Amino acid sequence: MDDLFSASWSLDPVQTEIDSLTDKLIKYNHSYHTNDISLIADEEYDKLFRKLQELEQEHPEFKRNDSPTNKVGGTVLDEFNQKTHQIPMLSLNNIFSDMDETNNETRHKELFQFNKRLCEAIGVDSLQYVASPKYDGVAISITYTNGILTEALTRGDGYTGEEVTNNIKTIKNIPLTLKGGNLPSHIEIRGEILIQTDDFIKLNQDQDIKGLKQYANPRNTAAGSIRQLDSKITASRPLHFFAYSIASYSNELQFIQFSDQLEYLKQVGFDVSEYCKICNDVNELAGFYEDILASRQKLPFGIDGVVYKVDEISLQEKLGFVARAPRFAIAHKFPAEEAESQIQDIQIQVGRTGALTPVAKIKPVNVGGVIVSNASLHNQDEIRRKDVRVGDYVLVRRAGDVIPEVVRVVLDKRPRDTHAFIMPNQCPVCGSHLVQLEDEIIVRCSGGLYCNAQKKFTLIHFASKLALNIDGMGDKIVEQLIDNQLINTPSDIFKLRLEQLITLDRFAEKSANNLISAINYSKNTTLKRLIYALGIRHVGESTANSLANTFGDLDNLMNAKVSELLQINDIGDIVATSIVEFFSENHNREIISELLALGVNYSKNISKSIFNEKISGKTFVLTGSLIGYTRDEAREFVENFAGKVSSSVSKKTDYVVAGSEAGSKLDKATELGVTILDEQQFKQLFES
Ligand code: IVH
Repeated sequence: MDDLFSASWSLDPVQTEIDSLTDKLIKYNHSYHTNDISLIADEEYDKLFRKLQELEQEHPEFKRNDSPTNKVGGTVLDEFNQKTHQIPMLSLNNIFSDMDETNNETRHKELFQFNKRLCEAIGVDSLQYVASPKYDGVAISITYTNGILTEALTRGDGYTGEEVTNNIKTIKNIPLTLKGGNLPSHIEIRGEILIQTDDFIKLNQDQDIKGLKQYANPRNTAAGSIRQLDSKITASRPLHFFAYSIASYSNELQFIQFSDQLEYLKQVGFDVSEYCKICNDVNELAGFYEDILASRQKLPFGIDGVVYKVDEISLQEKLGFVARAPRFAIAHKFPAEEAESQIQDIQIQVGRTGALTPVAKIKPVNVGGVIVSNASLHNQDEIRRKDVRVGDYVLVRRAGDVIPEVVRVVLDKRPRDTHAFIMPNQCPVCGSHLVQLEDEIIVRCSGGLYCNAQKKFTLIHFASKLALNIDGMGDKIVEQLIDNQLINTPSDIFKLRLEQLITLDRFAEKSANNLISAINYSKNTTLKRLIYALGIRHVGESTANSLANTFGDLDNLMNAKVSELLQINDIGDIVATSIVEFFSENHNREIISELLALGVNYSKNISKSIFNEKISGKTFVLTGSLIGYTRDEAREFVENFAGKVSSSVSKKTDYVVAGSEAGSKLDKATELGVTILDEQQFKQLFES
């Protein structure tokens, strides 16, 4: 009792608050990420999170090592420290299997030799192993001291690695503190960081939307992401960690089997792949290899083989190491992934964002254990460069675990009557005209509002928060409405009827009514939101704002010429062409007319830029909570008068608008002598 009393009595109140916020957020995170249960509303979580960030900024001395704010990064280094691994990070020897062409069976000669060698060395007939996927990612070693993550090193040359602790702390499924009581004073965990296939596809889609370069493959992207000097960049990448072993631990812990170590890793909060399996003998290993190879494409992450380790730790120690690899473990790598086949057809697929991808339909062929009948030809430049024709024999490769691709034509085998492939000049799905913007290799369908291939993407964007902001119409509901063939284009949203919604799963009368009201409510919008909602390529929120301010009316924008658009600050050739191409497609114009006819309207007075010398061209920073506006509303007001809202205070800031509980931004504004407005003064700016 005494101890407790003196402990809380001696703590600084700020430290107590930081501690309590940290504990709460750790609890919420854990429940959310591990148990999929959200204990708190998103906004409430964000509020607590920001509060903790502000307090930590003001009192870095009280920031805890396990603070969840580490997960968003923020530390920028000049270079990484080189550090020696206490236990070297060795590599594994490899074995392969091959195919018996006479009966199509896989031969595991090297696997049986490996098992025999080990059994003989120990003097037994059979051994128990743990088999696991061989993750195609980047190795990492993470140390926890008294249960708290204290250091993370890359593999480097195996003996010395780079210290990437701040970056590793940002990875969502790496615990900053281990779970459970009785934690060891020291434990060093090894595993692999990777990007799961779906996340990688999404990452490249986002790059695509932003008009940025595509990442080559998940492995290189993961490697590049953990070697960022700015940990915020690492935090923005969808990295995932799988633990595969424990390198060292203090003697509070004891393990008999390696499989016990994996169980322990799960208990203290790590992801260990569910595919890891105890195999009782070499035959089970062969079965494991074949099963994983067959389901390789269904796994959520890339692998390049499987790994076997002797389960009993005393036997692992007995077997020891040879040169730079353990004798008790082996990597069973998957076979080379190239095969020859013939192209039967070349078809054009239209992606979610309208990108056209030519795909070769090939005679089904076994590529590294997987039957492949489609191979990507990427784009028309690639077809031209490789001169790929229907009828050609081609080499097909499965690159990583992504889509198989055509590597090259086997010219010696080209049949006589082949013709160069010609790309269509219309979208094969909706017939809209095609666009290829300057500097972009990809050709796209211009009928974003109309094209069936793009409808999910278009409609989710259209209803989203910064667009028409249709409350209750999130991704899942949009998908459900599309799947039930109730909506195909944005205008269909405004034709939805209560009776149609009530028949759907997840809809009761009340929720259906709410959605219809939200749809009706969203009809009264602003020009900026409407322009943004159209999903014109390269027109983000800020460009939509500039367009609304300049044109003041949708008709004017729809008839604008490239030369007029180029007059606007921040709009260059690519964006201007993209806008003109979008509105020159009749399908899009028809949907826009329908939207307006169905009652979608915007207030011209608010959207049109009204020059206000106190706001136009000025930079605002909003901090604390305002009573009369949400943050988004306050931002919209500023932007409607052609002002800018920034997230951080600098010498260039013109005004800091400080609501209640404003924190460090207010201090910074005072320090830099920036004009500070309270809510009342902020309101008066618009009235003057
Ligand atoms: S155990 C002595 N298990 O493969 C090393 N390694 O050549 C023992 N790897 O870079 C490593 N998945 O990062 C092990 N399930 C797994 C693995 C795995 C991928 C990587 C590891 C290392 C390489 C070994």
